[in-house]
Amino acid sequence: CGIVGYIGEKQAKDVVLTGLKRLEYRGYDSAGICVVPEGEQVTIYKEKGKIVELEKLIGDAKVEGTVGIGHTRWATHGAPTQINAHPHRSYSGRFTLVHNGIIENYKELMETYVPQIERLSETDTEIIVHLVDHFSQDGQSTEEAFRHVLNLLEGSFAIALVDSEDPSRLYAAKNKSPLLAGIGEGENMVASDATAMIHVTNQFKELKDYEYVVFDRDVLVIKDYEGKELTRETYTVDWDVSSVETGQYEHFMLKEIDEQPTVIRNIIGKYQDDQGQLNIGQELEGLTVPKRIYIVACGTSYHAGLVGKKLLENIARIPTEVHIASEYLYAKDPLIEKDSLFIFFSQSGETADSRGVLNQIKQQGYRTLTITNVQGSTLYREADYKLLTHAGPEIAVASTKAYTAQIAVVALFSIYLSEQQGLEGTIDMFQELRTISIAMESLKDMKEQAKQIVDDYLTGHQTTFFIGRQSDFDVCLEGALKLKEISYIQAEGYAGGELKHGPIALIEDGTPVFVVITDDNVAKNTRSNAQEVKARGANTCVISAKGSEEEGDAWVLPKVNPLLTPLVSVIPLQLISYYAALQRGCDVDKPRNLAKSVTVE
Ligand code: G6P
Repeated sequence: CGIVGYIGEKQAKDVVLTGLKRLEYRGYDSAGICVVPEGEQVTIYKEKGKIVELEKLIGDAKVEGTVGIGHTRWATHGAPTQINAHPHRSYSGRFTLVHNGIIENYKELMETYVPQIERLSETDTEIIVHLVDHFSQDGQSTEEAFRHVLNLLEGSFAIALVDSEDPSRLYAAKNKSPLLAGIGEGENMVASDATAMIHVTNQFKELKDYEYVVFDRDVLVIKDYEGKELTRETYTVDWDVSSVETGQYEHFMLKEIDEQPTVIRNIIGKYQDDQGQLNIGQELEGLTVPKRIYIVACGTSYHAGLVGKKLLENIARIPTEVHIASEYLYAKDPLIEKDSLFIFFSQSGETADSRGVLNQIKQQGYRTLTITNVQGSTLYREADYKLLTHAGPEIAVASTKAYTAQIAVVALFSIYLSEQQGLEGTIDMFQELRTISIAMESLKDMKEQAKQIVDDYLTGHQTTFFIGRQSDFDVCLEGALKLKEISYIQAEGYAGGELKHGPIALIEDGTPVFVVITDDNVAKNTRSNAQEVKARGANTCVISAKGSEEEGDAWVLPKVNPLLTPLVSVIPLQLISYYAALQRGCDVDKPRNLAKSVTVE
């Protein structure tokens, strides 16, 4: 879910709705806003579905007021209905609230404090707003009541609350769910991330767990749960509104695919000094070379981690394991080498499963590094060391540029570790990355080819395979994930040699099989695997580094360093997924059932 709270001089409805649209990647089952007109009854509008549905519901209604809160939901407790949509109002009608997260002890709180209240929705959220009402009826001020409730809540939350009796002030708090404060002139805001506020300000204050804020249009105060005022520096984000808008593109996904060469150049710019040397030391000051590395991540970031392992092992010669965060979180007594480093790959820096592992690992005393796209995110803040991917906001739910950016950054980190050990034969990674960015530029122009492949191979099919070996296999996993998440075509990434041990049974006449071949050492083997499925009727689409006329390869990739081929071979797969989703009329940027940032376990 995503939340927004605004107070200032503009029309809150517009500011909040714009913010919510930018947060839609966090969930889009239902949405709602509440605007407080001066001296009048608070108006709540909420609707099932995406924010456009909410806009339709509001229609031409006069929703005026300069104070407002809003919410876009990814359902956890309670179906995505209009009733369960936020904002929720307290039983007396005085308080209205939006919430992102899960209140684990809502049942106990309900029974202990407000057993007489009949819940209006099936959400866990309702309890928060009823409790504020309950304590304020006991004579506590709104701030006291709010603080009292915060001290009782267990679970994760980012909250914004408005009191209709004093709408000149908003209250917000966070624990485990992301929330950031935006500082404007004569206006202040809170939201789940910076993109939702960039149309108002580029000045932000970080909020930490167990903190709350009280703000009016001029002053924003951060406090701890005891009510003690805290000081916090303001920082500037150098994004502008164009980085969170589609511009000439129809979808964010295509825009973000096309941004990849620029992102690689940005990364070079950020991590190379004037002498052309690697300039990463400040971020990693004090980090000694670990004996073993554990990469922990989810989804696409996990797939980037698989490539990262090969780079760390090849370049830095450090044994590396890669783990799915939600699995590692519950690993029984894992055997961890003493002098290890845990690296968290996360676009958002907020994924709950990864955060869970980070907390566990820190408690056990291991060192942690986060590679993320979002400065100030939870995983960024809580790790000992951090490296930013500098990819700019990624808005499409299907991750593209974050994947390539993570790989580029871990490649530089591998060089760093190799230099620290004085290893011989280190590659000129900046030069290699420059070549990559040129190769990526040329791939951007291959959209017609991607469309053609979709028409030729995927039309009318519901099952596909992506096969490859070594890092080509890693890319296949990512290609299959991309295709299934946005086009809803069943897609499986499989190790080329393993297919015959089971899944080959699924090959029928015309089954599309994408074959990625960039690794010379295994090219022959993968070609044999392609033949095996072809012999059983598959329609093979070979994407290769060298190209073979005889085999009729569908796509020949530009030449890059063999260690870094995933950075280019993934692009045709991203484009094919994009055009497959378009061909099927799917909502490319907001695929069903998904959220970009999964802040619940
Ligand atoms: C969600 C998104 C994926 C993403 C994964 C991990 O499932 O839909 O695109 O890869 O979370 O997110 P993170 O922000 O930690 O990279």
